[in-house]
Amino acid sequence: MPARTVLIIFAHPRPRESRVNTALLNAVRDLEHVIIHDLYNMYPDFDIDVHYEQRALLNTDTLVLHHPVYWYSAPSITKEWEDTVLERGFAYGENGDALVGKNMLLAISCGGPEHAYAEHGRNRYPLDILLKPFEQTAYLCGMNYHEPFVTYGAREINNADIEQQARAYRELIQKLTKA
Ligand SMILES: Cc1cc2nc3c(=O)[nH]c(=O)nc-3n(C[C@H](O)[C@H](O)[C@H](O)COP(=O)(O)O)c2cc1C
Repeated sequence: MPARTVLIIFAHPRPRESRVNTALLNAVRDLEHVIIHDLYNMYPDFDIDVHYEQRALLNTDTLVLHHPVYWYSAPSITKEWEDTVLERGFAYGENGDALVGKNMLLAISCGGPEHAYAEHGRNRYPLDILLKPFEQTAYLCGMNYHEPFVTYGAREINNADIEQQARAYRELIQKLTKA
């Protein structure tokens, strides 16, 4: 079975303070056919190299948007990446079919516990509802939107649970390179 490429678009503005997302990223760094773009590291001035990113997408089977949830969405550089890289004529619109048939996966962590993401919880809506803009972006680009890989309670999570999540993330990404 031929290998499939996974492109991880990672964003964390304070990686040295990160417990969850850096652990997850470190768990997949050595995997074959996995390419990591660490956006805050690559583009500290938010000056994203659109053609470089688009070329990487063309050579990819699965796009992973990996970041902590910030204000029910992504850190701002991920939005900048979407706004600039997913151009009309490339990702959507006339001749914009570069991403058709590729997969999109969110790998995200939430400070809030799972029960907070419910009608009577602090965040009032289930996470899948709050993530609809990502799902719709995938749809508009003709991509297959996968069920997000979520780590809840990311502020209080203990080290053993982080390690377990990291192992599960590695397994999932590895599977995607073989799918
Ligand atoms: C600016 C900002 C906004 C945040 N917004 C949310 C949010 O909307 N929902 C949530 O559950 N957690 C929110 N958090 C908490 C982060 O998601 C949490 O700290 C992160 O997932 C922990 O991962 P890390 O150990 O990799 O930093 C926010 C944190 C910051 C700094």
